[in-house]
Parts: sequence; structure tokens; C-alpha cells
Amino acid sequence: MKTYPNPTIESIAGYVGQEVMLKGWVRRKRSSGKIHFVVIRDGTGELQGVVNKATIEAEHFERSAKLTQESSIIITGVPRAEPRASGGYEVDVTGIEIVQIAEPFPIQPKEHSTGFLMEHRHLWLRSRRQHAILRIRHEIIRACRDFFDDRDFTLIDTPIFTPNACEGTTNLFHTQYFDQTAYLAQSGQLYSEASAAAFGNVYCFGPTFRAEKSKTRRHLMEFWMVEPEMAFAELADAMDLAEGLLKMVMERVLERRQEELKTLERDISRLEAVVPPLPRVTYGEAIKLLQEKGVSIQFGDDFGGDDETVLASSFDKPVIVHRYPASIKAFYMEPDPETPNLALCMDVLAPEGYGEIIGGGQRIHDYDKLLARIKEHELPEEAFRWYLDLRKYGSVPHAGFGMGIERVVAWVCGLEHVRETIAFPRMLYTLYP
Ligand code: 4AD
Ligand code: MG
Repeated sequence: MKTYPNPTIESIAGYVGQEVMLKGWVRRKRSSGKIHFVVIRDGTGELQGVVNKATIEAEHFERSAKLTQESSIIITGVPRAEPRASGGYEVDVTGIEIVQIAEPFPIQPKEHSTGFLMEHRHLWLRSRRQHAILRIRHEIIRACRDFFDDRDFTLIDTPIFTPNACEGTTNLFHTQYFDQTAYLAQSGQLYSEASAAAFGNVYCFGPTFRAEKSKTRRHLMEFWMVEPEMAFAELADAMDLAEGLLKMVMERVLERRQEELKTLERDISRLEAVVPPLPRVTYGEAIKLLQEKGVSIQFGDDFGGDDETVLASSFDKPVIVHRYPASIKAFYMEPDPETPNLALCMDVLAPEGYGEIIGGGQRIHDYDKLLARIKEHELPEEAFRWYLDLRKYGSVPHAGFGMGIERVVAWVCGLEHVRETIAFPRMLYTLYP
């Protein structure tokens, strides 16, 4: 049997004039009697195949007549440059093997409701738009990993089942852990702090869980977070690191995912603007700014989603807001020595209404101060004994942050809702598929 090279559609340019084999699915088909035009997708791209009755064996021509949307096929053919084709190439088909003829595909090239599409998420993933989004997601994740790996941060995976609440007790998922209750991790941070004392600079990257009872376009129940933690580091170091990470993420996506951004019709000038230095304002300045814009908000209030949108719209890049009142932040935040009711923390707010993409800061490293906070927040001391231990044995100032991948993907892709940023989103009323 003759063998053929089996390139991906993405790499087809290197195979012009050479007979190749392609494996994929039928995106669509149209006919003009003697010629069938079959668009095949293989997961890397799409390519139109020209099946010409005059030049292909009759049996193969008949096979192509039977093809339905999403039928799986293996074709042979010779690619050639075609300036009018969307990817710049077409393939003259020399043979077709049918793997399976697909039943009528539920998702048609027409408007479907979001509910319908979510119900068919397992099939919706095949659409061009979802493909573009998830490839950008992958690129963002790869950029994050490379960023930390290049800087010699050690990857330390943190547990999913935990006895501790890291980010407040109101949105915990409780699970039965034999005869105890365990929570699904809201963050890997507490464990990253332990890891930082062992390895210096570390990061964790994994799924995190929050039982968010509200339905918003920014919240998922299960989302992925990358969380660096640095020993011998302060708030300013965390801000610098966040700035560097965002720069790298943006550069990579712009360099490697132009096609996908084009598919999404993203205004890339908004992304190109994301270069350091990022504006930095204190929480106090942010409150003033909001008040000047007519928002009714007082010093001490937490920002709602709308406030974040208004605030961020004053800047054309992400803005770093630092030193929030300690009272609206997590228990572990180091107080500002100059104004102890403020926390040495920061949030990065994305422009264009995407809200908070990064949250972090400097952690309390003094044993007594931390114990007092745990008590104030009415957290169970027992569960935090190991965390307090870290303050007994060579405690140092340390800082870090968490970046929510889905929020970043939504922003980079210009999406209306985070539900499209992950293959199978978990939302308030969505557990299927
Ligand atoms: O601000 P958060 O709650 O911070 C932490 O969890 C810290 N322990 C991180 C750290 O310092 N290591 O969450 C961090 C980020 C947010 O800025 C946001 O991007 C994302 O996680 N995030 C969510 N993304 C999607 N759905 C949700 N329900 C999210 N909650 C937080
Ligand atoms: Mg936050």
C-alpha cells in the first residue's frame, strides 16, 4: 500500500504539490454537479478539498456525495496555493475513505440560543469560534508556565481537598472526606506559602472552586488559577511580577495566535497597548476617581463589578489598585505599617469591563499578628495550625498573587461571558455536559 505524509492542515504550506493524507471531519460541503467542494477540519485548521468527477475514481466521487456535516473522513490529495481560499490553500482530492457518516448535526450554521449551545457544549467545541478561544487559552497557559519556568520558579502542585478556607467561608464547596468534612480548594496560596519557605520562588497552577451563588458573566464555580509565591518579597515585588506576567502573556498571544484573534474579530490595538509600566493607584485614589465619575461609593466599600468597570475604563491598560482597607480583604494580608487599617494587597483590573484578573499581595509573617487575624475572622485555629507553624520557623516577608485564567481569556478574546473560556464550564445551573 502506498504511504503518504500526514501533515496537519496548519502546516499544509510545506506540502504544496505533494500528495498527502489528511484525517478530519467535514465542516461543510457544496456541489456544482461535477465538482464537490468539501471543507475538512482536523483540529488545527480548515482546508477546502476539491473533488472533481473528471479526475477522481467514480467510487470516490460517489463517496463524497454522501458526506454530511461532521462526517469523519481520511482523504488523499495534493495541496496547492489558492489566494482566494481563507487559509490560502486548497487541496485537489485524489481519494476519500469514509470513517463514519455523521447523523444530522444539531448545530447548524445559523443562530442558536445560548442555552441550546451550552446543552450541546460537547459538540459546540467544534465551532471555529470555540476552537479559536480554546487555542488562545492554551497559549495563555503556556505563556504563564514559561514565564515562571524561565525565572526558575519551582512548580509545586497544591491539594484540592483541604481542611482550610483561604478566601472566606461563604463560598466553600463542602465534601465528605470519610468521616471529616473537606473543602474543595478556593486557592493554593496557603500551601504555596509553605512551599516558598522550602523552595524560595514557587508557583502552583490548578483548578480552584468557589460556590458563587450569584450569576455573573465573570464567575465560574470551577476555574483555573496560576499562583506564584516568593519568599523575601514584598507588595512591590508582587506588582512587578504581575506586570511582567501580563506583558509576556500578551506578547505570546499576539505573536502566535493572530489567526484566532482574527476569527474572533478582536480589536488587537487594545491588546497591543498592554505594555509596562501599568498604572498603579491606591484604593483611596480609586475611590476618589469613582466619586468624581459620579459613582456613589464610600471609603471602606468593596468594589462591585460595575465599579471595577468604571474604574478600569479610565485607563487604556490594566490598572493595579493597591492598599485596600484590611476589613474587606482576606485574613492573611500584611497591614501597611504606615496605615495599619490598610492591607499591603493589590488587584489588577482589566480594561473594557473585564474586571479583576489578578488578586494578591504581601502576607502576614508575624505569628502573633496572624493568630489574632485568624481569631478575628473566626476561623478554626486547629485547621490553621500548620499555616501558623510557617511563622515559627524562619519566617520571612513573602508575597504572591493569583491570576484567574478564565478572566484573562475572556479579556484577551473580547468575550461577553466567561462561559466560553473553558471547555466545560461549571456554572450555577450548569453541570451538564
Ligand atoms: O482574588 P482572589 O480570590 O485571590 C486569591 O484566591 C488569592 N489566594 C490568590 C493569591 O494571592 N495566591 O482570586 C484570584 C483571581 C481573581 O483575580 C480572578 O481573576 C479569579 O481568581 N477568580 C475567579 N475567576 C472565575 N470565577 C470565579 N468565581 C473567580 N473567583 C476569583
Ligand atoms: Mg480578589
